[in-house]
Amino acid sequence: MDWGMKNRLSRIIRPDGRTVMLAVDHGYFLGPTTGLEDAEKTIRPLVSYADALMPTRGVLRASVDPSTDTPIVLRVSGGNSILGELSDEGITVSMEDALRMNVSAVALSVYVGSPNEKQTLLNLARLVDEGTRFGIPVLAVTAVGKDMARDSRYLALCCRIAAELGAHFVKTYYCEGFEKIVKTCPVPLVMAGGKKLPEYEALELTHNAIKRGASGVDMGRNIFQAEDPVAMIQAVSAVVHENASPKKAFDLYNTLKLSKKTSRKKGLKDVTASREEINRH
Ligand code: 5RP
Repeated sequence: MDWGMKNRLSRIIRPDGRTVMLAVDHGYFLGPTTGLEDAEKTIRPLVSYADALMPTRGVLRASVDPSTDTPIVLRVSGGNSILGELSDEGITVSMEDALRMNVSAVALSVYVGSPNEKQTLLNLARLVDEGTRFGIPVLAVTAVGKDMARDSRYLALCCRIAAELGAHFVKTYYCEGFEKIVKTCPVPLVMAGGKKLPEYEALELTHNAIKRGASGVDMGRNIFQAEDPVAMIQAVSAVVHENASPKKAFDLYNTLKLSKKTSRKKGLKDVTASREEINRH
């Protein structure tokens, strides 16, 4: 890998080989998603806790403070909506504009087994060519259409094809046999969060994925739709970076949630977790 490519990737996947990416790109086909109606308000308190932020171009420009240190993984595929055929995606941002926005990586979805399988795989190949030219890593998102299975045979197929076409890292769902997907994928793999779960279950899901070889998570709704999103991202981070058990992470979540409530009552500033606090749990 070229130096620029390595440098960008190392800003996303931290020196411990792990990452907590915050996905806020849902609007590109879902429109005003719950929790992201006012994207700026949602992102502002969370962004500094994320190892990377995954927005669309529109949300990045309108709702993310340009002085942020958090690397950006820009969603560059779309052209579809929840009302139509989901797999019918094209590339929506030029590499030139991605560079202008100083992104650390670009992300696009591939829909293996869909009516537009070939189109989305060729989109990926083209993006990898352009990314390689400018030193921009590419994240392939193994999107799953409405009627598609989420089993390890299918997801391993998607991840391996994405890696074979040159994706620098891959995002996929957790399922039984997840370790098989990780083992047969030659590039780092991050787990997609999926629909909102109770907080403890989301931490368990994260823990299972990390234990089975994931390099981290790219999570959206399970963070920004949590009762306390700032506490949740810190709890997820404790699992990913500190190998905290789901119980310890959930205790941390509750402690942070409670201390925020208490400090609000006392009229103090928000209390946030220090590394020592994470370790104590
Ligand atoms: C869609 C995506 C989104 O980033 C994804 O939906 C992640 O968010 P969540 O954790 O809410 O599922 O990649 O294909």
